[in-house]
Amino acid sequence: MKSSIIIPLLASAVSIHGLARLPSPETTRSPFSTIQPSLNSIFAEQGTVTPSSPTSNVEGKAFDRIVQIWLENIDFDHAAKNHNMQWLAERGITLTNYFAVTHPSQPNYAAAVAGDYFGMDEDTFVAFPRNISTVADLLDTRGISWGVYQEHIPHAGFRGMNFSNRRTGRNDYVRKHNPLILFDSVAEDAERRRQIKGGAGDGFAEDLKGKKLPQWVFVTPNMTNNAHDSSMRVAGRWVRGWLEGLLGDEYFMEKTLVVVTFDECGGDKNANRVFTVLLGGAIPRSLWGTKDDTFYSHYSTISTVSANWDLPSLGRWDCHANILPPLSFHAANRYQNAKDINVDEMLYNKSYAGPASEKMFTGDWWPAPNTVARCASGMGVLESIKETWGVGEGSYEYTRAYPDDGARGHGNVYGKGHAYGWKENVEGEEDEVAPPPAQVSGAPLNRSRSHVLRCLGYVAVVAVLFL
Ligand SMILES: *[C@@H]1O[C@H](CO)[C@@H](O)[C@H](O)[C@H]1NC(C)=O
Ligand SMILES: *[C@@H]1O[C@H](CO)[C@@H](O)[C@H](O)[C@H]1NC(C)=O
Ligand SMILES: *[C@@H]1O[C@H](CO)[C@@H](O)[C@H](O)[C@H]1NC(C)=O
Ligand SMILES: *[C@@H]1O[C@H](CO)[C@@H](O)[C@H](O)[C@H]1NC(C)=O
Ligand SMILES: *[C@@H]1O[C@H](CO)[C@@H](O)[C@H](O)[C@H]1NC(C)=O
Repeated sequence: MKSSIIIPLLASAVSIHGLARLPSPETTRSPFSTIQPSLNSIFAEQGTVTPSSPTSNVEGKAFDRIVQIWLENIDFDHAAKNHNMQWLAERGITLTNYFAVTHPSQPNYAAAVAGDYFGMDEDTFVAFPRNISTVADLLDTRGISWGVYQEHIPHAGFRGMNFSNRRTGRNDYVRKHNPLILFDSVAEDAERRRQIKGGAGDGFAEDLKGKKLPQWVFVTPNMTNNAHDSSMRVAGRWVRGWLEGLLGDEYFMEKTLVVVTFDECGGDKNANRVFTVLLGGAIPRSLWGTKDDTFYSHYSTISTVSANWDLPSLGRWDCHANILPPLSFHAANRYQNAKDINVDEMLYNKSYAGPASEKMFTGDWWPAPNTVARCASGMGVLESIKETWGVGEGSYEYTRAYPDDGARGHGNVYGKGHAYGWKENVEGEEDEVAPPPAQVSGAPLNRSRSHVLRCLGYVAVVAVLFL
């Protein structure tokens, strides 16, 4: 590591006001009206709607393309025993403490693009309002192309609930595994939604062949290939088969970070840790077969994208989510991940209350993002989010390095001080803006410890002022 001075930000160094008072959850939410076009109209659209494949070539710090491949519902240990997953692990870095954020599927997909799941606790039809921003909005600020490949989606931008195998009637494409279609900012935009297109064998193959792949890619195999309606054996064979051919493809792999993960673990009685491998051309050979036990979550994928391309944050759980390797090991990265998070007690097996919840619905109340934080990329929060939501520290402690856990309630404490922060003097550069104390949070439950930390915090702040 460089001889950089690391200024750890002691959580609780400065006490900030507690959580905004949450409205008491009502018990029910009236269902959204499900979109399910008739077969005839689906077939008509198949002939007319064309996929959209914008391209770009914006250089990133550690990778120029990120490809996320999501499989379904397998426990960490089960996946780790699969020989095809082991084959992938030999060609990359295994993350041993990467967590999904709740159950069931749908909220995890929403979280991975929006930085929160807003209490979502079912796989039923939910359409997030336009004022909920996603990673697509962050990427658009620099014209970084994005695209979603959904195997057997009947046509680009399809908004219906599902499309089943016409011959067998079995589940094939399902909306709940399609992250960006859940958001009106994409689904209600006829241009943007056509960047959600077919998977292996149709849209992806064409974009690969035509060198029209986007720089941010999300891949959902169908309900058989992703293990949902089959097994780890089937999904392991599929994901290896899909990637093995691509590993030698220079166009696909050069400076590409591939993230193979699972939406959630198998059952909901245990910790929601999921087997995750990072591979591709962005992972140096010296790191093949290694393990990283840092705490990461689905939100890390957003903070990593922001930090890699100098993009702003959504000001939600993505803000200070630990950045993934290889960027977290990279000299160009000036952000220090929180290493002191205690994962032993983590569960993430239940959703908290919110406006997308069915069981703990909060009515019209939507949590506000933190719009004053600097966040892990150092770029603050997206301008349009600030305009929509105004100035504020947000409804939750969105600046923690780990998100709230519905099983533990809001304000759970898994950290011992969150020593995340900014590395000073990297390659002679001076960090001009000192991170505002408001972005440090953590509200420990243990008051005596919090006093000690607060005192240490004041000492650190004074020391910094006199440096
Ligand atoms: C959606 O799923 C339901 C239930 O399996 C099925 O009856 C229906 O035909 C499917 N719709 C389409 C368009 O495939
Ligand atoms: C899922 O896709 C594979 C091809 O990749 C196909 O063999 C399988 O039948 C599909 N599953 C369903 C339920 O249609
Ligand atoms: C979450 O896991 C804990 C610990 O195993 C268990 O007690 C609890 O019932 C689980 N919660 C749900 C909603 O399954
Ligand atoms: C966001 O949209 C929801 C649903 O339309 C609305 O209830 C809420 O007031 C909006 N919030 C802001 C800050 O625009
Ligand atoms: C609070 O922290 C102090 C110091 O770490 C410890 O001695 C004490 O037992 C803790 N109290 C509780 C209630 O956890």
